[in-house]
Amino acid sequence: MHLDDNNEEFRTDILKGLSNPVQKSIPSKYLYDSKGSHLFEQITVQPEYYPTRTENSILEEYSTKILQNISKEIILIEMGSGSSKKTKHLFDSILKRQDKLYYFPIDISFQFLDSVVTDLETQNQNIRVKGIPNDYINGIKDCNNILFENNFKFDSFSRLIVFFGSSIGNFEIDEARDFLKAVRISMNDKDFLLVGFDMIKDEFLIEPAYNDKAGFTAQFNLNLLDRMNRELGCNFDIHEYVHSAFFNRKKDRIEMHLKSKSDQEFRIAGSDTIFQISQDETIHTESSYKYNEKKIQELAIRSGFSLEKIYSDNNNWFNLVMLKPC
Ligand code: AVJ
Repeated sequence: MHLDDNNEEFRTDILKGLSNPVQKSIPSKYLYDSKGSHLFEQITVQPEYYPTRTENSILEEYSTKILQNISKEIILIEMGSGSSKKTKHLFDSILKRQDKLYYFPIDISFQFLDSVVTDLETQNQNIRVKGIPNDYINGIKDCNNILFENNFKFDSFSRLIVFFGSSIGNFEIDEARDFLKAVRISMNDKDFLLVGFDMIKDEFLIEPAYNDKAGFTAQFNLNLLDRMNRELGCNFDIHEYVHSAFFNRKKDRIEMHLKSKSDQEFRIAGSDTIFQISQDETIHTESSYKYNEKKIQELAIRSGFSLEKIYSDNNNWFNLVMLKPC
């Protein structure tokens, strides 16, 4: 087994999260290896998983309107681009305004990104795609550097940064603020930020979205154990854990956990620690915060943005929010 730098960081994060005596946890970004990204794509087309198709319908209806307040030529940057499927609505609307489009998809799942970039370039000659295999904030910095090195004049275009899928919900509330602040620093007055938020609603609507009958969410969650076995030399017995996801009404968030079926032990290669987990004890693998308009407004203000406009579906299940630096 080869442990490179990325794996070293992975290992450190895992050791820390699993050593927490109050609640074992693993940062949710580790769900997205190549296998995890493919499983997530399956989740997005399950009948119970409403966020993707709802956000997609908003983009389908409003993509032209969304761009109306932007007067300059647009450069499009997407944080966590995944399959870039929803973004196609924006491509079409932007290419009605300008001849060509520079598009920078940023994603940490670099193998997945590579294949998406190749597909996009062959599909549309007018889109110049530069895939950025990095985390969100460093990815934006990479984009800025590339634009700078290629002598782009920063006052002759607007960067539209998009962050779809309600991935903002994966952050704790204060983390989301710090994250948007960090994005803000890389932006100037002419740039825009479009963020997707999943709205607070009855748990009978939310919980099934994270417990699809076909079992893709369970596979997605359990893949994390498989990934740790493969990449970190762990010895998790995958059949001894079950997927658990529920809405935490006090915190307005979905929590995803891996629950141990029995009292058992596991270890991580290169560490002497033998970890114990009891029957029904869980490893917290993801939180997905849901928002309302007040919370969105607060988040915007606290991170240095003004809320320009909210685009929503008929049920107000999902909001696409246009933010401007202020
Ligand atoms: C990609 C983070 C938006 O929270 O709904 C889906 C991830 N996890 N099912 C979400 C996810 C389980 C998804 N985000």
